[in-house]
Amino acid sequence: MIHTIDALVVGAGGAGLYAALELSKRGVPVAVLSKMYPTRSHTGTAQGGICAALGNLEEDHWEWHMFDTIKGGDYLVDQDAAEILAREAITTIYELEHMGLPFNRTPDGRLDQRFFGGHTRPDPQDPAKRIPVHRACYAADRTGHMILQTLYQQCIKHAVNFYNEFHVLDLIVKDGVCAGVVAVEVRTGELHRFHAKAVLFATGGFGKIFSVTSNAHSLTGDGVAIAYRRGVPMMDMEFFQFHPTGIYQKGILLSEAARSEGAYLVNGKGERFMERYAPQLKELAPRDMISRSIVQEIRAGRGGDGKDYVFLDVRHLGKAVIDAKLPDIMDFVRVYMSRDPLTDLIPIEPTAHYAMGGIPTDNDARVILDSQRTPLHGFYAAGECACVSVHGANRLGTNSLVDILVFGRRAGIDMARYCADRDGVGWTELPAHPEDDTRGAITRIVNGQGGENAGNIRKQMQTEMTQKCGVFRGKDDLRSARDTISELKERYDRLSIQDKSKGFNTDLLEAMELGWLLDIAETTVLGALAREESRGGHAREDFPKRDDAHWLKHTLAYHTEDGVVLQYKPVTITTYEPQERKY
Ligand code: FUM
Repeated sequence: MIHTIDALVVGAGGAGLYAALELSKRGVPVAVLSKMYPTRSHTGTAQGGICAALGNLEEDHWEWHMFDTIKGGDYLVDQDAAEILAREAITTIYELEHMGLPFNRTPDGRLDQRFFGGHTRPDPQDPAKRIPVHRACYAADRTGHMILQTLYQQCIKHAVNFYNEFHVLDLIVKDGVCAGVVAVEVRTGELHRFHAKAVLFATGGFGKIFSVTSNAHSLTGDGVAIAYRRGVPMMDMEFFQFHPTGIYQKGILLSEAARSEGAYLVNGKGERFMERYAPQLKELAPRDMISRSIVQEIRAGRGGDGKDYVFLDVRHLGKAVIDAKLPDIMDFVRVYMSRDPLTDLIPIEPTAHYAMGGIPTDNDARVILDSQRTPLHGFYAAGECACVSVHGANRLGTNSLVDILVFGRRAGIDMARYCADRDGVGWTELPAHPEDDTRGAITRIVNGQGGENAGNIRKQMQTEMTQKCGVFRGKDDLRSARDTISELKERYDRLSIQDKSKGFNTDLLEAMELGWLLDIAETTVLGALAREESRGGHAREDFPKRDDAHWLKHTLAYHTEDGVVLQYKPVTITTYEPQERKY
């Protein structure tokens, strides 16, 4: 079936919905394609908050937010983008409030704000010192859920067209211009061709390359890998965030909001160990530092119960605070661990949480192909699948929700402009048979006789990535992971699946997703192996220092016939020269 629609948005999380809303408000015909029902998108799992320098509880300024973002990202952040993020966070929050989002409020009716790691202000007693600032607006520990519901309602109100359970499998590019996508309708197995002037990928992250992750099963990096196979590089893939407080062995997130409300991290000896690693911010230090500290405590034999976890301690917060501000995550503890957070310590470990890297874009979410910022006309990316880069080497908590909304909105605005400009040029002609590559890939998998099992390959990839490309990395482990991924890719070519039917063939779609995950695991490992320094979320045990002289640059990984080729792109520095990062 063939569809012709001016603007396509792939993915129905915060970035996609905000873009669709802006397009629709500007009168541009727009359709959102989502591989699942929109309100199941992963934005809905974001818990603790969305930050903006509103200064509702004490003095705050967007410039301080910008500085924290750049320092938190270990100076790999593009500073022009960080400025946009910090400035536009403020208007974004007010827009959400006016849409009806039920934020928590202060007793006098203003939007309440809470602490989050790495968000600071100068200490009024000693301006050289920085102390935590209340910057994160929140709706209990369901902030993402509320954002998703609010934006979805707005999209319905503004008559955005939804194609639910349409799984995009390819990007159509003709003569350097993006012209649409190929998608499978999950219910029927039919391929659909969507011809468009502008396409936005807002397809989310790819935490499923790891075994212990806070990410849902759907986070398989589809958009990033599809674009990569069409010539778009993957940027800064070696920077993956490990959130310090995942439920032990399950990876389910226990929000940083718990520490914001005063929870402690304690080791097996009952010590608040963050006092040693980040004496000023302690449990509110950035995530990369806390995750490393947890691993170091465990390695030093100070894990909880002598095992490979430490504890989150919320017991002293009391029932009233927990019920009002942390209800969901405390339910997770009861349901998934059979522990009572009011009386028990909670075993936690770092969990793969967020991709700092992804599809390279400019500040209007236009996809760029190289260090000269050559655009792929008509193609946009926003949200976790994109790399603007506002997070650099390590994202600060709550900056993800700001990122997806600020740059999702900018994407929608620029796509509307682009669609209007194309009116004078006409629609890009489609290649003769744009579905052929997808049909070929499906046929190969469905008819595959090699006997390899997708589940086994996936499990081995995830274990390898967690063990060898996790919080700490080293040359030998990375080389070994590289070889394993390469072997798994060969085995992938010999895949067989059991289900040969058309409708709801999840066997087939999961096999396609596995192919994308393997591409992503490969570029992640190769980027990490090449980067011989430690910066933010990339901690090399054999190169423990940051090395600005050689590595103050972004990585671009290209898919070529000869394998992955790495190139580099300069970091944009406008305001803050790199300094040593201390908390
Ligand atoms: O801890 C959290 O609530 C996570 C927030 C985030 O990743 O920004």
